[in-house]
Amino acid sequence: MCGIIGYVGDREIVPILVEGLRKLEYRGYDSAGICVLDSGVLKAVKKEGKISELEKEESLRWISGKAGIAHTRWATHGKPDEINAHPHFDCENKIAIVHNGIIENYQALKKILIKEGHTIKSETDSEIIAHLIEKFYEGDLEEAVTKALELIEGAYGLAVLSSKEEKIIAAKKGSPLVIGIGDDEMFVASDVSPILGYTNKIIYLSDGEIAIIAKDRYLIKNLDGKKIDKEVHEIEGSIKEIEKGNFKHFMIKEIFEQPDVIESTIRGRIKGNRIKLNLDIDPKKIKRIILIACGTSWHSALIGKYIIEKYAGIPCEVDYASEFRYRNPLINEDDLVIAISQSGETADTIAALKEAKGKGAKALGIVNVVGSTISREVDSGIYLHAGPETGVASTKAFTSQVIALLMFSLFIRQEKGEEVDKVIFEEMGKLPGKIRKVLESSKKIREIAIMFKDKNNFLYFGRGINFPVALEGALKLKEISYIHAEGYPAAEMKHGPIALIDKNMPVVFLATKSPLSSKTLSNMEEVYARGGKIISIANEPTPEIQKFSEEMITVPETIEELSPIINVISLQLLAYHIADLKGLDVDKPRNLAKSVTVE
Ligand code: G6P
Repeated sequence: MCGIIGYVGDREIVPILVEGLRKLEYRGYDSAGICVLDSGVLKAVKKEGKISELEKEESLRWISGKAGIAHTRWATHGKPDEINAHPHFDCENKIAIVHNGIIENYQALKKILIKEGHTIKSETDSEIIAHLIEKFYEGDLEEAVTKALELIEGAYGLAVLSSKEEKIIAAKKGSPLVIGIGDDEMFVASDVSPILGYTNKIIYLSDGEIAIIAKDRYLIKNLDGKKIDKEVHEIEGSIKEIEKGNFKHFMIKEIFEQPDVIESTIRGRIKGNRIKLNLDIDPKKIKRIILIACGTSWHSALIGKYIIEKYAGIPCEVDYASEFRYRNPLINEDDLVIAISQSGETADTIAALKEAKGKGAKALGIVNVVGSTISREVDSGIYLHAGPETGVASTKAFTSQVIALLMFSLFIRQEKGEEVDKVIFEEMGKLPGKIRKVLESSKKIREIAIMFKDKNNFLYFGRGINFPVALEGALKLKEISYIHAEGYPAAEMKHGPIALIDKNMPVVFLATKSPLSSKTLSNMEEVYARGGKIISIANEPTPEIQKFSEEMITVPETIEELSPIINVISLQLLAYHIADLKGLDVDKPRNLAKSVTVE
């Protein structure tokens, strides 16, 4: 899950590559490098750390050329340092490669290459690709790359540059890669974000494809050398959408975008009291629904289970994609598998989806990134239309996933001929206004953050449909503030976590109105009695909630199925303010990456 950008054309190349890396930094940011073909010589600069470190390099100013590749890394093999940073080279510095993915048989290949006299400089799996290409190079780069790929097992998004030819060879298997077609210039990148400012004409490479791109032409082939005619997509939207505007961080910008995002996810999909979705499924034939996802998307799947079983009336299971793919799941043809993913590129989710499809299940996707791998693998699906999400900690994708799951459940209900209560539609219409109200509490939440920012632990408790919200609140906090946090169903507290409660333990309670409100209140009382410091999320300050709470965040009331959307926003804000007050890099938390395209 690294970021790749390559360019062939007449513009000043270094700024294009460096700016491109900035846009891809969400994919990894522990080291970076660029390589440009400058007057027949491959000139490279590599740096440990973020792109800003690379940018400071004086030597960059003396590099120019018409073809170049660049990479921002998230280490898998070998520590993040200058030697392990990409690009990697062959022995003679005549071939440069940037790679995203994992070469599984690299140890075996490395042994052979060393025996043949190659000197391998880094600890990475990626470097062996450059040496394999060198081994096969007899004047034709494309042929040498193809031969090298035949020996490689594993996943790759790859871009190759040689000192002899003003072109880039790109190849894809299991890691995303797109080609941008400009006027007398071409791009290759891990996603469209570094390309969109220059052209909106995009080709999505598929697994097993090789692209040869020169300034004024491109050619796509399969590994057998057969030419492939690929569709050229015209992407809407612009670079403006992925800029930060007046916000300090992308995360807070994306939190504040949520009223518009919810409108955008719903737009065109509700007419009167009817849901309109283009789904290639027959609801009557579905006996079971399985939701697969990772991270925050897995939390929205947990909420989806409540909603699907309630409205669609179909048994629903939720699985971590990484577990599902390896547990040899029992799948039937009347199962519907739904992959939920912001990026549409998460390796485990893609593999789980393929596993389910291979066993005959119907497959749907709930995905944000248009044209992403998952969106292309599924039979049909629902795009979130949430706009680009750049902050590593997912926010607006989560809330739009929940609303998409609700629309999906209501659609199934409607298609089964059952009535849908119009109150749900009314409440969905009011949701953006209610989210705005929560956002107005941002200042107050920052004051709460000031009080609690130096704590070492947090507990989050919720019940029913708000239990996954407790998990998501805890995940947001640990991801960006590095404070240890755990989410629990409130009733489970007595089976363990209660032992942790003392006057130093902040406990966030999701205490908005629900059929289980009185039970939640009892759980609050148990924490209060042991001196725990309660921060409650509630609809109104009832005397009991006031008594038990050290601090309270009031949020507007809505129907239970929509309460996770309202409630999670206050938890996103709490995590954001704590991390920001601690002076941390909110958008690029340590060790994490936005898009996890490796296992
Ligand atoms: C990474 C991100 C998370 C995200 C997860 C799943 O871990 O940091 O924010 O929830 O991947 O990503 P997906 O794109 O499949 O939703």
